[in-house]
Amino acid sequence: MSFSADREEVTRGARTAILLPELPAAHGRVQRRDREPRIEEARGLALAIGLDVVVSHVVTVRKVHPATLLGSGQVEAFGHMVEDNDCELVIVDGALTPVQQRNLETALKAKVIDRTALILEIFGERAATAEGRLQVELAHLDYQQGRLVRSWTHLERQRGGFGFLGGPGETQIEADRRMIRDRMARLRKSLEDVRRTRALHRERRKRAPWPVVALVGYTNAGKSTLFNRLAASAVMAEDLLFATLDPTMRQIPVDGLGKVILSDTVGFISDLPTQLVAAFRATLEEVESADLLLHVRDISHPDSEAQRDDVLDVLGDLGIGPRAFDRAGEETPTDAGPPIIEVHNKIDRLTGDARSDAEGQAHREGAILLSALTGEGIDQLLLRLTDALGGSEVQRHLVIPSADGKTRAWLHRNAVVHSERSDEEGRLHLHLSLSAANNGRLSQMLAEQPDPSRV
Ligand code: GTP
Repeated sequence: MSFSADREEVTRGARTAILLPELPAAHGRVQRRDREPRIEEARGLALAIGLDVVVSHVVTVRKVHPATLLGSGQVEAFGHMVEDNDCELVIVDGALTPVQQRNLETALKAKVIDRTALILEIFGERAATAEGRLQVELAHLDYQQGRLVRSWTHLERQRGGFGFLGGPGETQIEADRRMIRDRMARLRKSLEDVRRTRALHRERRKRAPWPVVALVGYTNAGKSTLFNRLAASAVMAEDLLFATLDPTMRQIPVDGLGKVILSDTVGFISDLPTQLVAAFRATLEEVESADLLLHVRDISHPDSEAQRDDVLDVLGDLGIGPRAFDRAGEETPTDAGPPIIEVHNKIDRLTGDARSDAEGQAHREGAILLSALTGEGIDQLLLRLTDALGGSEVQRHLVIPSADGKTRAWLHRNAVVHSERSDEEGRLHLHLSLSAANNGRLSQMLAEQPDPSRV
């Protein structure tokens, strides 16, 4: 078997039909979203890997059919649409069992993939770093493993018995399973190595020690655009969902703080397949260890509230984020994780009453209203950052020449000096705590008077 068989069959530009099954409540979470935005999201996901969506169809499923998900009449009606529109690919925006997938493929005479497979495709295309690629491959194998066990059992057959790949009598399915298991074990090992390196980098950053601000938010909320505006960098920002898979880091200058490390993270999405939650844990580690989270929301989106809940749910499920709001939108005090500032983005899209409403809401919720696209409101965000981070304390070890009386005097004025000792080489070792703002000033001062003896 080929590990990537499924992926290779999804070709860019393929004429695609989207099927949105509305399931009875017992079979899924309570739907928070309306049909239209759900279709739009599925369309966006398909576009993200260059598929040509020519038709989309919503089906109310009153009773789930184990063999085909839909009832036979519904399959037939949808089959006509697929045929009339000459579609070679069908995306079912939900979860399919392997049996349902196979039966639907036969009935619809088209390749059928479910939401998990689609998201895996997108992640596969977007993974930019070594870690991202490893994570996606692992998630993909995990997905395939499930399919293999449940759906391919009927393919079991005796292998020759020469013992090249397994002992005599080992069946193909066992060999495939073992290959996947071995590959997954190797990937996990490589991931561990990559993670150790990242942890080291994080440690080094902590010692730097600039405050880390992580951008989180629903996919397409505008994180990369805001990141670019703040960092004036060239991170890919496209109207594609999941344009960001791997965390991206930049240092940005902030008045009063010196510098801040800005970290862009992968977009959140509703119904994130479980395999992928694990796959993105490392990405979210950055969020966990951040000093502050900026939760970027597309305030012009009709589902903005549901998207906010999804983001907070995922953070909460991973135990790494505070739930700043409960279901009713009430703010709940929490100290589990870094503080969150909500950024209500895309204000340029709202006019008249909608804009006044958004202003009222931002005021009530203590959010910053801005447009990452036009730059409106960015100054307020920077002021808020200074405010929020200015108070946080930074611990620092510093070595300066003993003769540098100016820096020493400044430190005693602006920092708490816990200990101070001179060594035989004429250097002064200091252990201090100081505000992030003063730490920024200090680093700037030191950078302006470079001294090779300073560590
Ligand atoms: P993922 O990588 O999928 O998580 O997306 P993201 O949150 O990083 O979104 P991104 O910055 O890629 O923006 C998505 C789309 O929204 C792009 O087409 C942006 O141009 C657009 N966009 C972002 N910010 C604004 C804004 O303030 N106003 C308007 N009108 N469009 C915006």
